[in-house]
Amino acid sequence: MSRDWSIREEAPGDEGAIAAVTAAAFADHPHSSGSEPRIIERLRERGELALSLVAQTASGEIVGHIAFSPVTIGDTRQGWFGLGPLSADPLRKGEGIGSALVTRGIEVLRERGAAGCAVVGDPGYYARFGFARPDAISYPGPLDPYLQVMILDGPAAGGVIVYSPAYG
Ligand SMILES: CC(C)(COP(=O)(O)OP(=O)(O)OC[C@H]1O[C@@H](n2cnc3c(N)ncnc32)[C@H](O)[C@@H]1OP(=O)(O)O)[C@@H](O)C(=O)NCCC(=O)NCCS
Repeated sequence: MSRDWSIREEAPGDEGAIAAVTAAAFADHPHSSGSEPRIIERLRERGELALSLVAQTASGEIVGHIAFSPVTIGDTRQGWFGLGPLSADPLRKGEGIGSALVTRGIEVLRERGAAGCAVVGDPGYYARFGFARPDAISYPGPLDPYLQVMILDGPAAGGVIVYSPAYG
């Protein structure tokens, strides 16, 4: 299927459509409490939505979204970002929207000189982009096995990773 969508940064007025596609994507997710749209809103309110990309169709519909926000790792306070939430319209699964959002997001982080990116998610999905289990970074709690990182501009950070309180 040919792609009728492209990736761009969030613009004023996108907020409602981003919340809607996020709610739809996570509606059937087994580990979701339905809080993902609110996480994005809280990041925005706190000024912590460091990078927010949407996938938009030629007709103007928003069919995917990805958020990145600053994280700290041990004593490292700058340069690292957490990926998520990531959403693709459930009616358009497998069209490459999720992959395009992750790939472009990482590219922008690189352009901005970021040190690295972390994600708490399914390794079966994120490994393809180059995310891997870290040796020296841990995520507090039972989700630690799902923590994966990508170093963009080393050296590697070490310690406990802390996400924004927006993820609550
Ligand atoms: C995960 C998600 C963003 C993927 O979006 P997408 O546009 O369908 O993904 P893509 O088209 O880029 O990639 C599809 C590939 O990813 C695989 N995939 C999708 N979700 C996966 C998962 N949770 N685990 C492993 N592989 C997964 C598909 O099987 C497919 O594999 P293939 O390329 O070998 O055929 C989308 O399914 C979604 O919004 N899911 C609900 C919310 C969610 O889980 N977000 C991520 C939380 S960490």
